[in-house]
Amino acid sequence: MDKLAIIGGRPLYGEIPISGAKNSALKVMAAALLTDEKLTLTNVPRLADVDMLLRLLAQHGAEYNFDNSTLSLHVKDIFSTEAPYDLVRKMRASFNVLGPLLAREGKAKVSLPGGCAIGARPVDLHLKALTAMGAKIELDEGYVIAEAPDGLKGAVISLPFVSVGATEHTMLAAVLAGGETVIENAAREPEITDLADCLNAMGARVKDAGRSTIRIEGVDRLHGAEHRVLPDRIETGAYAMAVGAVGGELTLMGADGGLLGAALAALEEAGLQIEERENSLCIKKTEERCKAVDIVTQPFPGFPTDLQAQFMALMATADGASTIKETIFENRFMHAPELSRMGAKISVDAQTATVRGVERLKGAPVMATDLRASMSLVIAGLAAEGQTMVNRVYHLDRGFERLEEKLQNCGALIERVKD
Ligand code: UD1
Repeated sequence: MDKLAIIGGRPLYGEIPISGAKNSALKVMAAALLTDEKLTLTNVPRLADVDMLLRLLAQHGAEYNFDNSTLSLHVKDIFSTEAPYDLVRKMRASFNVLGPLLAREGKAKVSLPGGCAIGARPVDLHLKALTAMGAKIELDEGYVIAEAPDGLKGAVISLPFVSVGATEHTMLAAVLAGGETVIENAAREPEITDLADCLNAMGARVKDAGRSTIRIEGVDRLHGAEHRVLPDRIETGAYAMAVGAVGGELTLMGADGGLLGAALAALEEAGLQIEERENSLCIKKTEERCKAVDIVTQPFPGFPTDLQAQFMALMATADGASTIKETIFENRFMHAPELSRMGAKISVDAQTATVRGVERLKGAPVMATDLRASMSLVIAGLAAEGQTMVNRVYHLDRGFERLEEKLQNCGALIERVKD
């Protein structure tokens, strides 16, 4: 398995192009199953997760062409309504093919998902929403077997708590359902708005995405369209946090600060200078050390759970003590013991981590446990004295496009070591 070798302590200076958002690309790609015409997506990141979903879509019948960051998908006919375990288990977003297959073909058999090991991550809300729309659902040997022979029907879906996945999945099914679907307590993440924009470009009638109540008027068919995936707010935040940990000045090209919600405020409170320019975000560290800041992960516009690990790496070298509370997932502090191996002072009590900043971390061999945790170890490695070896880099390849190249171009000493 590949590793990343990092020699820390070199500030970052230069420009980093921000890629299209992985979490958005994967959902708009699933939308290609809803039409027999071509869907062209631009600003699509080249990531292992995107390739994995392409393999799944291809076996459902998609023809595709991926050139630079432009991906065209054409699902003229659905060959198979079955999504096998091998292709779904590695990535949770693959589960979202269930709704579109059901909406277009009236049946689907999809393996229950896998993904990052950050908690139980059930899909009960997804299944409840599809059931409320008239689907008959059975679970059999790790597969969801769903049928809606007379088509899906609009329904009022009231989510007991905010779920990004369930909101997206409901949207993907409801656009072709008969009548109106109302999603109450919907997620308001920018990726939800991006999916709505893509679906509407395809002829759907999705209203009020980005608000707590989304209304969807079902249509008989969708058509081809072109859609640009929004910039990755998690990649943006991660590079900003790297500047906080190691110093320097980065211009994040194509980034949109407005997508960062509470993370932007936390970075400013930590002492970073942030300047929003047209089509870029400039991040500068002027103080010797960042200040300790307390955060609580929350659905958007709160502090994103996907930036919690990276923020912990930043706080590990901040001046003072900070508390980091994780409210979205129950097992998302696996980076804490790895950061401690590098000299960080972190204690974890249930869902809260207390981080006492130290002046300097020390390089060490560490193990990446999930995607965002891996990035937190990279940030810590960039800031640490000496060499850090990050094992299990494949997690990073799932979610950060051309990571080493982007960092090397800004002065970092980071290299992939092939096994
Ligand atoms: C979550 C994050 C999203 C992030 C993604 C990948 C939130 C609200 N969501 O989205 O920002 O990009 O992880 O790390 O921050 N749940 C159930 N039953 C379900 C679905 C979810 O109990 O059917 C629970 C989850 O276990 C979790 C919470 O709901 O505790 C929110 O989950 P959800 O938003 O659906 O997760 P993702 O879509 O994976």
